[in-house]
Amino acid sequence: MTAVKIAPSILSADFSRLGEHIAEADEGGADIFHIDVMDGHFVPNLTFGPPVIKAVRRWTKLPFDVHVMAENPQNLVSGLADAGADYITVHAEACTHLHRVVHQIQQAGVKAGVALNPATPLSAVEEVLVDLDLLLVMSVNPGFGGQAFIEESVEKLRRARKLLDKHNAKAELQIDGGVSQKNAKRVAEAGASILVAGSAVFAADVPVAQAIARIRASLA
Ligand code: DX5
Ligand code: ZN
Repeated sequence: MTAVKIAPSILSADFSRLGEHIAEADEGGADIFHIDVMDGHFVPNLTFGPPVIKAVRRWTKLPFDVHVMAENPQNLVSGLADAGADYITVHAEACTHLHRVVHQIQQAGVKAGVALNPATPLSAVEEVLVDLDLLLVMSVNPGFGGQAFIEESVEKLRRARKLLDKHNAKAELQIDGGVSQKNAKRVAEAGASILVAGSAVFAADVPVAQAIARIRASLA
């Protein structure tokens, strides 16, 4: 198992001091920041867009992994790229022309990811798998932080890992939703290379650095 990266999701951070909270997680050992963009249509919740991402960009040098839970995500690509996204992940369910959107992201100089909802089969992404920089397996129905981990996701991750290996695809395999020190080792063993954790990092019963350390220790 290669080194697994921990990506705190800022959805559970304190929005009134977002920059400081991000800096705290950076110093506390985060590898990447996961940034949830929601449009109130694809998911029943609203968060933020390019202006907020641009504003917090100066608080860390770590990569920004932007998870777009929006209809027509192709319309957001250039704005997110300009705001400082290093990865842009779109949902397969939101893209009629997924192949085109993946290449649009890469042409904007950003790494391209595709996310799959819990009910969406891996076959939805198979034809573009070799083009991807990241494959995101959702382990909750997207829209909110703090939801319970869907156990079937572990088996789906295993199948995703096999599929990536079969195609000799180099994409990161990310898991998002309900990840904590309780299941981190299991999802890493199933083949995940990036673990997203929102409430387990930013809304834990311990300070951020300790919360990240606790997840990392559970992987050992
Ligand atoms: C959910 C988001 C997640 C969320 C995860 O729709 O995509 O990134 O922040 O939060 P936790 O880790 O609390 O489930
Ligand atoms: Zn997310």
